Amino acid sequence: MDEGQLMDRIRVDWRNATDHAVEKQHGVSRDELADLQTRIREITEKMAADREAGNLRYRNLPTDGDMLANVKRAVENFRPRCEILVVLGIGGSALGNIALQSSLNSPAYNLLRDDLRPGPQLFVLDNVDPDLIGSVIEFIKPRLDKTVVNVISKSGETSETGAQFLLFRDLLQGKLDCRYKDCLLVTTAPEQVKADGTSVLDENGRPKHGDMREICIAEEYKTLEVPKGVGGRFSVLSAVGLFSAAMCGIDIDALLKGAEDMDQRVQNPDLFANPAAMIAAIHYLLDKRGKRISVMMPYSNALYSLADWYRQLWAESLGKKKIESGREVFVGQTPVKALGTTDQHSQIQLYREGPNDKIITFLQVEQFARQLPISNSKAKGMEYLAGHSFNELITAEKRATEYALRVSQRPTMTVLFPSISPHTVGQFIYLYEVATSYMGELLELGEKTYDQDAVELGKKTTFALMGREGPEYDKLRNEIGPVAQHDPEYML
Ligand code: PA5
Repeated sequence: MDEGQLMDRIRVDWRNATDHAVEKQHGVSRDELADLQTRIREITEKMAADREAGNLRYRNLPTDGDMLANVKRAVENFRPRCEILVVLGIGGSALGNIALQSSLNSPAYNLLRDDLRPGPQLFVLDNVDPDLIGSVIEFIKPRLDKTVVNVISKSGETSETGAQFLLFRDLLQGKLDCRYKDCLLVTTAPEQVKADGTSVLDENGRPKHGDMREICIAEEYKTLEVPKGVGGRFSVLSAVGLFSAAMCGIDIDALLKGAEDMDQRVQNPDLFANPAAMIAAIHYLLDKRGKRISVMMPYSNALYSLADWYRQLWAESLGKKKIESGREVFVGQTPVKALGTTDQHSQIQLYREGPNDKIITFLQVEQFARQLPISNSKAKGMEYLAGHSFNELITAEKRATEYALRVSQRPTMTVLFPSISPHTVGQFIYLYEVATSYMGELLELGEKTYDQDAVELGKKTTFALMGREGPEYDKLRNEIGPVAQHDPEYML
């Protein structure tokens, strides 16, 4: 790492999560951490071996040259005629895109004049709210020929994304006829073929590569791959997140370089030198002590969506009924997001005086892109503000909140961003992905860290309610009928 990159390192300050800061009952001691050291070393070695064996594929995304080249080719192809980019996806197929866009482009990005905007206007439709989708369609309709639609679905069978895909395909086809395919890019899991070239089949005899991939093959759509073995919430540094980011002018090379630099740091088996292991160790020890809620509180609007991305990562990866051995445990901290300073005026009363059941992580920016003076003019009662800047104010507010929580024995940590850049955001994403893996291992979840079985029932019941055929769905329809109707006896 050169000197510039060293200066641009994000750092984790864990002092206020220790027993020195918030008393023994609520903070971790160095001895407890030292006791975890052997376990951390074993986990680090296990993760390295898993990676060597071709598992933990998300760990290799920062240096996956082929994937990057494919994304760049797609950008070269779609960028010249694209004024509006619509991303259709949900969960891990959307939250990373939103986080990259909000953290690395201006909040007024879509409102900027074309010549000032580094890419097309971007809409990430991660819901099926008819008013949301309808209003975006109204907006883009006159410019459909300049619109690119990126459908993202790893499984290729998510009903939300499927419905959006059908609607947007109709729209594009209606306007552009057969040229519509030039405006469509589908990011989905790769085709799974056996050595003889035939499809791999699932237990129901259906091709295992998902409906969307089949449609792409049949209709000859342009595609990018969600790499095999990379789950949705770990996929932001793959084509899933990189295509829309690069289209909108974000430096994806720097983003991946940040992740790669963080990778060097989080391979260190020494807990006291490995920020991902330290985040996991502190959350693990405090979770066991009743801190069942993990709040992420950026003091930066740009970073707020990263807290949303973190919520999914922590919740879906670690919220599990059973550990790897099959024992029932019902684990998982509830991740919550809050925004500094806004939520000081909404949540801090609870965080200080309510149940002491939280570990709070602040995200702090040392150097904002702008230096914004308040004013030199004075007004009665506000003299103390004159001559200062908003930069000083937001930092003072963060320090004040940290102090106020500390004196109430509430443990906190801080992730310090030297500045917000693709390089630091790349570091942050990779840091929390690996911290999640460490936490999964500490909780003995093993491979379960990367699945989300509990999401499936809702997905399948939706299929059933929307009329999908098959005995499994018939059974679900029969079961859900009596429980999902409004019962007048309970209606007020
Ligand atoms: O993290 C996950 O795996 C999920 O949030 C998925 O990303 C989400 O359910 C969407 O799935 P898919 O990409 O298969 O449409």
